[in-house]
Amino acid sequence: NLVVDLTDMGIEIQPTMYGIFFEDINFAADGGLYAEMIKNRSFEFTLPKTGWVEPNSDRHSYNNESGILSVIKYSGEGTNHNFARVEVKNDEGYVLINEGFRGMGVKEGAQYDFSVNAAKRSGDIQKIKLQVIDSLDNVLGETSISPDSDSWKTYESTFEVSKTEMKAKVKITFEGEGEIDLDMISLFPQDTWKGRKKGLRKDLVQLLDDLNPGFLRFPGGCIVEGRTLARRYQWKKTVGDIEDREILVNRWNTEFAHRPTPDYYQSFGLGFFEYFQLSEDMGAEPLPILGCGIACQFNTGELVPMDELGPYVQDALDLIEFANGDTNTPWGQVRADMGHPEPFNMKYIGIGNEQWGPVYIERYKVFEQAIKSKYPEIIIVSGSGPFPEGDYFEYGWEQLKQMNAEIVDEHYYKPPEWFRENADRYDSYDRNGPKVFAGEYAAQTVAIASPENKNNWESALSEAAFMTGLERNAEVVHLTSYAPLMAHADGWQWTPDMIWFNNLESFGTPNYQVQKMYSTNPGTDLLKITEDGDKIIGKDGLYASAVKDENTNELIIKVVNTSEQSQNLSVEIAGGSVNDNVTVLTMGMDDLEAENSFEEPMKISPKEGTASVNGNVLEAEIPSMTFSIYKISM
Ligand code: AHR
Repeated sequence: NLVVDLTDMGIEIQPTMYGIFFEDINFAADGGLYAEMIKNRSFEFTLPKTGWVEPNSDRHSYNNESGILSVIKYSGEGTNHNFARVEVKNDEGYVLINEGFRGMGVKEGAQYDFSVNAAKRSGDIQKIKLQVIDSLDNVLGETSISPDSDSWKTYESTFEVSKTEMKAKVKITFEGEGEIDLDMISLFPQDTWKGRKKGLRKDLVQLLDDLNPGFLRFPGGCIVEGRTLARRYQWKKTVGDIEDREILVNRWNTEFAHRPTPDYYQSFGLGFFEYFQLSEDMGAEPLPILGCGIACQFNTGELVPMDELGPYVQDALDLIEFANGDTNTPWGQVRADMGHPEPFNMKYIGIGNEQWGPVYIERYKVFEQAIKSKYPEIIIVSGSGPFPEGDYFEYGWEQLKQMNAEIVDEHYYKPPEWFRENADRYDSYDRNGPKVFAGEYAAQTVAIASPENKNNWESALSEAAFMTGLERNAEVVHLTSYAPLMAHADGWQWTPDMIWFNNLESFGTPNYQVQKMYSTNPGTDLLKITEDGDKIIGKDGLYASAVKDENTNELIIKVVNTSEQSQNLSVEIAGGSVNDNVTVLTMGMDDLEAENSFEEPMKISPKEGTASVNGNVLEAEIPSMTFSIYKISM
């Protein structure tokens, strides 16, 4: 028999307990959350015509009949290096096609915003027509602009699409003859998250917001580090006007990806300002992670010499000013100019993503010293490397403990049984040492990041069992997040992932549903739940944790049954009394291979039921292979 003791243990569940890890992997940002539909809008990719097709050109002739597209490189030092020069030779209608990230999703009756920067150079191109077409060249919507200036000018136009299409393209036709320069050719749905112009994809943000996340960690992941230092993520290049944000080849482009995607770049339309804004929208603490002068140690592992670390440290200090500084500080002013004079009240900063060994510790110390002397109130998250065990892990923890580090980030990508067997992982962690950020974890059904991995019920159920251990150890574990977060069905490099999407639709995996059950029922204070005086960690396949919620005045009991038998629960509620009525959320099924899909997005999702408490005893049956939450008013 189980016993829940309502006596206050004095251990709070941190509001940051269940959060989100965001990385631009699997087209999560460009081609995903960031709703821009034109790929390579500014002709900056390494092969600058990537994404653009001239259907009437002939590669073997010097020129084509109706016109030609050239990409011109500015000689100046700007960050937007290229623009397109289109020469239209006759009025036969020179055409350019943009293929989108994996096609473009458009919806019947929806409005779309087209914009382009243009400058007429010679002759008279009177009109630029933009059409959304399907694979048979049927026009689903169109608009046009009439260029009238020989200096750079932005033209905008809105139009409606008449038919839903998953794999649309954009066709641009030029009328008149002459030469015109074009840059930042852009198409966005008008119906974005919070209706922001050139904003974020609404259905995807909704899925994130529904998680009630305690924090948003950004921008990764390995992209923080870069394959080389030159290709690391530099936040200063991601703020200000979007056309001045210098694009970067994504670390998940081609090399070292499990399914290479050679046209994967970061436009930074979703940059640091937008990440802070998104955190604020969702009521989540912003948690930026910055590079620490070490490129991805799985790749080149390039190091900045210690005496050249200064600019990296300055980036961290300036970021704090950008987030929190008042408007008379230089970076606070940049934030204000972007439309947010109020500070973002950032409390956390991460130094280094997944770095390890002495090279990390010696660099980390420099950051810590600089940040704490200027901003003692900022809480620093440090790293423990990619594996949750081994020499480097032990070394990192030992060093960080000696330094009184505040929060240590741990990552684990392990088989489902590892999660079931390690629900006691944190029981032995020092209560007086650094706190834990379980910053990246996910059960791997085949092998780490294998393309064959499935987001199946076995993986999610095992994570649910493990998470009772996170919750039971809330004294030590202060932040947790599943990873990676999102994947485009036609453009991914890593599996499993919590949310899958295509150009029109999205769904949460069973793993998402598990995260959501925890994050929407987090509680505020830990309670003790035992069976015959012991913690409930896998005996007969049963796992359990309990919390109370001071805000809703509820007792919340989470029970996972990983066994093949249903079990009769009898939970005695000691140390206080509760009401009779119990709301039960139960998720699961016998088929451990089962998955959610675009066709059946809610196949595995919680179902609501009721139970009752008689004489302070909750009697319930927990079916085999299920995760249940019992909510009882106190
Ligand atoms: O989540 C995918 C990758 O796994 C992250 O980029 C990295 O931090 C980890 O190795």
